[in-house]
Amino acid sequence: MKTNAYQRAEMPKGTNSVIDQRSLRASNANLLTVLRPGQHVLDVGCGSGAITAGIAEQVGSDGLVLGIDRGAELITQARQKFAGIGNLSFEAVDILEYDTHLRFDVITTARTLQWIADPIKVVQKMISLLAPEGVLCVLDYNHEAISWQPAPPPEMRSFYDQFLRWRADSGMYNDVIDRLPEMLESQGLRITLNQDESEYREKGEDGWQTHAGIWSKVAEMRGTQLVSDGYVTEEQRQIAIDTYDKWCQTAGQSMRLYLRAVHAQR
Ligand SMILES: C[S@@+](CC[C@H](N)C(=O)[O-])C[C@H]1O[C@@H](n2cnc3c(N)ncnc32)[C@H](O)[C@@H]1O
Repeated sequence: MKTNAYQRAEMPKGTNSVIDQRSLRASNANLLTVLRPGQHVLDVGCGSGAITAGIAEQVGSDGLVLGIDRGAELITQARQKFAGIGNLSFEAVDILEYDTHLRFDVITTARTLQWIADPIKVVQKMISLLAPEGVLCVLDYNHEAISWQPAPPPEMRSFYDQFLRWRADSGMYNDVIDRLPEMLESQGLRITLNQDESEYREKGEDGWQTHAGIWSKVAEMRGTQLVSDGYVTEEQRQIAIDTYDKWCQTAGQSMRLYLRAVHAQR
């Protein structure tokens, strides 16, 4: 039977509009310090492969890159989009069920542990797939440390707080990235990088609307799940979207999503 967290983490249709826009350089730049030609790389929770394709370019034709994601539809899209790249392949599988004789020089997981209840099992699984000198690279959020300037409308703040409660109630860690160093050290790894990668935009900058507007998208796409699970009413969801859209266009000046990269080795 699927767990609550598993159902809550399912990517709603339309989320691609966000993840398809990402790239290695703009959205996972922490990897640039570890990627070398010829490496074998595993990207866990690769989505539709936008970042994974950039990784394949970095390791070159002597390298090998595999993206895995539990979302079968996302993997179909990734395969279609990046069909011509010889050193890149994709597999639709849950990381906990993934089985291979391969061991990887780099295992990366970006914005994925945030969606997993009890992520220690996934961390242990990834460590088991590392080559002896391999590096595990995690990029993820602490959603409790978001900051908006000025404060968003109370209707959206209260939707956001319910969103975090809905996630936490199913076992997901809203502050997952800040728990990572201790989690990795408890598995015998040493931290080699712990770096701020926060996503910040000010009004007037390119991408402000997409960046700040993420919470309207969340309320549109995931919000219906919160309504059916009884965390907000449909009316509260609608008001949160309307007032927040207005805030983005008028009072909103900046928003910072707290994102960090943590790398570790045996
Ligand atoms: C927010 S997306 C991140 C996509 C991409 N890494 C990025 O940074 O844009 C998280 C992805 O993790 C996948 N995912 C969640 N749990 C997973 C699991 N247990 N095994 C494999 N993929 C998983 C989801 O299907 C989703 O595509």
